[in-house]
Amino acid sequence: MFSAARAPAKTILLGEHFCVHGAPAISMAVNLYAEARVRKGVEAGIHVSSRGLKAAGLFHGGRYKAEVGGKAGGRLLRPIKIAAEAVLDYAGSPPLDLDVEVESGIPIQVGLGSSAAMAVSTVAAVARFVGLKLSREEVLRLSYFSERLLHYRPSGIDQATCIHGGIIFFQQGAPVKFLKAARPLRLVVGNTGIRRSTGVLVKKVSSLAEEREALMRKNLKAARRLTLQAAEAIRRGDLPQLGRCMDENQKLLSAVGVSHKRLELFIEAARNAGALGAKLTGGGGGGCMIALARGEDLENVAKALQRLHGETYLVETDERGLRSWVGKGCVG
Ligand code: MEV
Repeated sequence: MFSAARAPAKTILLGEHFCVHGAPAISMAVNLYAEARVRKGVEAGIHVSSRGLKAAGLFHGGRYKAEVGGKAGGRLLRPIKIAAEAVLDYAGSPPLDLDVEVESGIPIQVGLGSSAAMAVSTVAAVARFVGLKLSREEVLRLSYFSERLLHYRPSGIDQATCIHGGIIFFQQGAPVKFLKAARPLRLVVGNTGIRRSTGVLVKKVSSLAEEREALMRKNLKAARRLTLQAAEAIRRGDLPQLGRCMDENQKLLSAVGVSHKRLELFIEAARNAGALGAKLTGGGGGGCMIALARGEDLENVAKALQRLHGETYLVETDERGLRSWVGKGCVG
């Protein structure tokens, strides 16, 4: 017997970084997934493994015993162990020996919310394993501990998107609102292949907000206006208007120093190949960009990015969000 949970990746359509400072943002869950499976461990402690992360090892009594991937592998797996422990603590359960296996089709450290998808699926799978029923808000709170380790001061937008699915209008501290798109949104995701730390980038923007308060206030005001316009465009199915908002948002992200030469190159190539709008997604500084395009232009946009040696994904909205189940048989 094992418990399992699956969560989608996220792409932020408008407002990343600015949402950490109180502005609203729009995020869309997309059809790339991470999955966690939990069963009773065979050794004392929490055993975590992931073929995709090329890491496996046992966390026990404050120590880590690496099996695959050495200490570096342990650093990748630690957020998963923290997510599992958060649930056990919350459940008031005595320490349990667990085997947690996480697999993900979401590339890591490139702004697609892989860590959030792994954290929320681990939280949901462990909760199911110990028979604890959690609300979506509780999953969000419990996954915060592991996200904080990686993202410095996460707004919660990544986990909220993975948990709820669909397209969400997010503002820190307010209940999530769902946006119903009049037309399906299809995106090309272009991965520059440059891995970076979201936490470092969040810190960079936070320092700017302290040092250049007036500039940041102006950018936040513009980001808020664009996000509201984009929400309206999504509801009306006005894709060209949504594309324009994304382009304007990219300028603001560039102005706060989170773009990258290679991201700009990809964004320009996507626009030249017919995208209605393009911008970085997530923390920036490398990682992924997204391009909004009409159905007939998607392939062209993807090809333009591939010519720049970018890895590409054609994605659409995942409407289901986080789900969990109990399975029979072996894990693996
Ligand atoms: C990361 O996907 C989005 C950021 O806005 C950070 C956050 O909101 O937690 C950069």
